[in-house]
This record gives sequence, structure tokens and C-alpha cells, in this order.
Amino acid sequence: MAGAPSPAAPKSGASSVDAAPSAGGPPILAVHDLSKSFGGAVAVDGVSFGLAEGESVGLVGPNGAGKTTVFACISGEIRPDTGTVAFAGRDLGRMPTWRRARLGIGRTYQRVEVFPELTVRDHLLVADRVHRRRTALWRDLVNRSAPTADELARTGAVLEMVGLGPVADRPVGALGLGTCRLVELARAVVGRPRLLLADEPSSGLDELETAELASVLRALQRSEGMAVLLVDHDVALVEAVADRVLVMDLGRVVASGTFEAVMAAPAVRRAYLGTA
Ligand SMILES: Nc1ncnc2c1ncn2[C@@H]1O[C@H](COP(=O)(O)OP(=O)(O)O)[C@@H](O)[C@H]1O
Ligand SMILES: [Mg+2]
Repeated sequence: MAGAPSPAAPKSGASSVDAAPSAGGPPILAVHDLSKSFGGAVAVDGVSFGLAEGESVGLVGPNGAGKTTVFACISGEIRPDTGTVAFAGRDLGRMPTWRRARLGIGRTYQRVEVFPELTVRDHLLVADRVHRRRTALWRDLVNRSAPTADELARTGAVLEMVGLGPVADRPVGALGLGTCRLVELARAVVGRPRLLLADEPSSGLDELETAELASVLRALQRSEGMAVLLVDHDVALVEAVADRVLVMDLGRVVASGTFEAVMAAPAVRRAYLGTA
């Protein structure tokens, strides 16, 4: 490529990959030329894409494609070897995870980690304090003071948003996996992020629970204006939630576009089905 490429310029050889956000305005997220190797193995290899404010994008691809590593580079848990991540026009550089969270990046994890004896509401109250740095660690919960009216109001609003109001005061251990996934989601949403990174939120859920999750994710996007980056194996969930889909394979973005266009692309059929 001649001359200095602009930060938004697509990599040469990837011209069929439309990695730019579809809507106008400054992107809420701009990932540029991200790479990360573990030992000698390349996990993420020159990935660039953006999300517009309030946009919902699905990130799909086979196991080991590098999706979770991309998430970890955005949330700050992993430092990329090369490349940049900008949020709302600001280069995040080496900013630690907690500061990224405060800026407005929320994240859920592939593995659900809940405390069975604590109620749903307690999970959110602790997440709220952690987000606001009123407590450093989850273990401080043991000696936590009574919640303030503000804390109860904030967490109550999120419980309603995510549909957990009816089970707010039940211990999480008494609830099924589908509900625990919603607790995990609510926890990520407590800080009212502008960008939600959801990593395989439907994993282990049945069809009905997945449909419920889809409607919650859609509602968060529509009513809160939250941008959503969704990694999931459930193509029905991705279709229901995502405005646009990116496909990764072997650390690279191999296709991008609408759900229908992407699912019909030869590179995707190869990556997913082992056939063109
Ligand atoms: N912490 C790590 N240490 C070593 N290898 C890792 C680590 N995290 C991921 N990898 C490797 O990087 C590649 C991409 O993994 P990952 O980002 O988890 O993919 P995906 O989420 O798409 O399944 C895989 O080959 C995986 O084994
Ligand atoms: Mg993963």
C-alpha cells in the first residue's frame, strides 16, 4: 500500500472485508490491526473493525478462531502484540481493565461465575460497588455495609431491564443456568456501558432461554442505546441480535456484512461447514 495508511484503511488483500461500521458518526469502538500470539501460535492476526454507537455486531467463527482473545484485548485483560483499540475516539493504549469498564466497556464471560448463596440483587449490588470502586474485590462483600438508596435504585432498574425483578431476592444457587446467564449479563450492565461485549452468553441454554436472552440483548440495544459485540455459536441468536456480522477464522476477519450475506459467503461456509 503506497503512502501512510489512515487508521481506518482496510488492510491490503482484505478489500472484500467491509470492517467499517455501517452507521454514520464516530465509532464507539475502533479496532485497528490487532495481533496477538501465545508462544509461537498466532491467535489474532491483523484484525480491524469498528462498531458505530448503538450498533449490534455478531462476531462468529469456529473454536480457536481468536474471538475471545479479541474481546480480551478490547477489555484490557490481554495486551496485544500490535494494533490499537480506540473507544469513543480515545486510544485505550495500556489502560487497565477497570478504567476501561468505567469509560463504558462492559463484558460477560464464557464461564458463569456466581456465588450460589448470594441473591440476584446482591450480585448486582457488589458489581455496582466494584464498578464505582467502593470496594476493591468481591471478597469485601463479606463485610459490606447496607446498600444505599441510590445503590438500590440503580440495581433495581437493571434488574427490571433484564427481567430479573421477580427473582431479585432469591439465592442464585436456587436458579437455573438460564437465569444465571441473565445475572451475569445484568452484572455487566450495572455500570450502564456504552459497549457490551458478550462472550457466548447462550452457552448451555435451551431454545426458550436463548430466545429470552435475545430479547433482553435487543432491548438493551434499543432502549439504552448500548452497542453490543456478541460472540455466540447459536446462529439464531446472532441473527436475532446482530445488525451486522463479522466472521473470524484462524485469527483473521474473513467476512463481514449482513447475516444473510455472510452466511452465504464461501469463506464462511468453509470455516463453518468445511465446504464451499
Ligand atoms: N491464554 C492463552 N494462552 C495460550 N494460548 C491461548 C490463550 N488464549 C487463547 N489461546 C489460543 O489462541 C487461539 C484463539 O483462542 P480464542 O481467542 O479463545 O478463540 P475463540 O474464542 O474464537 O474460540 C486458540 O488456539 C487458543 O488455544
Ligand atoms: Mg472463545
